[in-house]
Amino acid sequence: MKRAFIAGIAAFAGAALMAFNAYSEGGPKPEPLPKAKTIAELAERYDSERCAECHEDIYDEWQYSLHSHSILGSPRTAPTIITAIENGIKLFPYSGVKNDEDLTVEHLMICAKCHLPQLDEATDDVAREIVATIKGWQQAYRDGDTDKAEKLEETIASLNIGCTVCHQKVAIIHKWADGYPQYDTVYGSSEGDHEDEELVKMAEAPAIGESIFCGQCHGLGPNFELDHPSQCATLYGSYLFAYVAHGGSETCQECHMEKSGLGHDMQSYKDEAMIDMALDVKVEGRSIFWRKNKAEGVVPIGIIDVSMYNKAGHVIPDG
Ligand code: HEC
Ligand code: HEC
Ligand code: HEC
Ligand code: HEC
Ligand code: HEC
Repeated sequence: MKRAFIAGIAAFAGAALMAFNAYSEGGPKPEPLPKAKTIAELAERYDSERCAECHEDIYDEWQYSLHSHSILGSPRTAPTIITAIENGIKLFPYSGVKNDEDLTVEHLMICAKCHLPQLDEATDDVAREIVATIKGWQQAYRDGDTDKAEKLEETIASLNIGCTVCHQKVAIIHKWADGYPQYDTVYGSSEGDHEDEELVKMAEAPAIGESIFCGQCHGLGPNFELDHPSQCATLYGSYLFAYVAHGGSETCQECHMEKSGLGHDMQSYKDEAMIDMALDVKVEGRSIFWRKNKAEGVVPIGIIDVSMYNKAGHVIPDG
């Protein structure tokens, strides 16, 4: 009886430990790092170049993606941020912003929430430096000073959704259950030691292979948690409510990273593979002679029947 009881406890402890292991990828909420005081400091903290040393192919793929220049964009994003400030934030009576000097991280967060989530680790000076850099870049273009424009463009592009944004900062979604990402750990699908000097451990991020991971930035609709909700991408909403709700079962990663063969070069219609995956187009045509009326007599007409079926897991285009 006693033995059975002990065995029972041991089994229970084993089960508890297993559960603990399965959910201990993250850890307690770490102390925030000191705020980055310049663009250079923030870029350095999230620099992807040192990962290239060992993950060269992935780095090369990532460089082609818009994630690698998520503030610059196509380059439509940086100018649109300025428009949002000039034609929005500065005109709103309660934003507290009349001049560029009044801008804070909170103001830029209406875009940076998804375009540069790590901005919450920087001082308000960095928010103002970003705006000044984008404006300087636009001015350099107007002045025809291409050298200066290129240099500033590089600075803007140094702020991006790099390796450690996805593999650390936003890697774990349910932090109360799975823990908070730790500064010494890189999160993916394996566990163990990691060869990098700073990120010495590798741990599992339970949802990094799931659509919800991409959904963090790819939008459900208005960002209601902000004092002034913005709305940009809404594609994750469309994925959930139109695609999954109608029986779609593939994940973002399956279509964009695996089936496309593009890996970390996540793309849209700019890429041939994505174009092929996007639509089934069926065109049927026939020609007939049609007796229209007495005056015009018999006229040749063509009937063309075009049907398009969207095979993407969401509306296209988005936004
Ligand atoms: C000195 C070499 C080296 C450097 C530098 C390095 N890694 Fe790694 N990394 C590895 C090796 C080796 C593995 C394990 C095998 C594999 O998956 O390729 C690995 C594994 C990983 C994994 C887990 C893959 C999985 O299967 O889940 C991620 C994520 C990762 N590295 C990201 C990074 C990031 C981000 C950086 C830059 C901050 C980085 N690595 C820098 C060598 C390195
Ligand atoms: C909910 C997250 C989110 C917020 C908040 C957000 N964006 Fe976006 N934005 C995205 C994503 C994701 C894309 C790309 C995918 C797409 O269009 O579906 C995008 C695309 C864009 C594009 C087109 C991309 C290009 O390179 O041409 C522009 C421009 C843009 N955003 C500007 C802004 C501005 C300005 C703000 C703030 C006023 C903002 N966004 C706020 C997530 C967001
Ligand atoms: C936009 C988010 C995002 C960015 C940015 C990103 N990754 Fe990943 N990475 C993922 C996802 C998602 C997976 C696949 C996870 C799965 O399906 O299990 C992955 C997988 C990996 C893997 C393991 C699988 C493989 O393909 O070998 C490594 C290693 C890795 N990433 C390294 C990097 C490095 C290095 C960078 C920067 C150059 C980077 N990642 C940038 C999201 C990202
Ligand atoms: C940290 C936020 C974030 C995460 C996580 C993220 N993305 Fe993005 N993604 C963006 C932003 C922001 C852009 C647009 C950048 C720009 O052009 O300004 C973008 C652009 C893209 C584009 C290109 C859109 C275009 O118009 O060409 C694709 C495709 C994409 N993401 C797919 C994914 C997939 C798949 C995942 C998950 C594996 C993912 N993203 C995870 C923020 C994110
Ligand atoms: C069934 C496959 C499939 C799934 C699932 C899927 N996508 Fe796509 N996605 C595509 C194809 C194909 C395109 C290219 C069509 C186009 O851009 O016109 C595309 C385009 C995009 C674009 C560019 C949209 C634009 O405005 O042009 C973004 C961003 C994107 N996907 C992100 C995601 C994210 C995030 C998820 C998961 C929530 C996801 N996709 C799920 C196939 C898929």
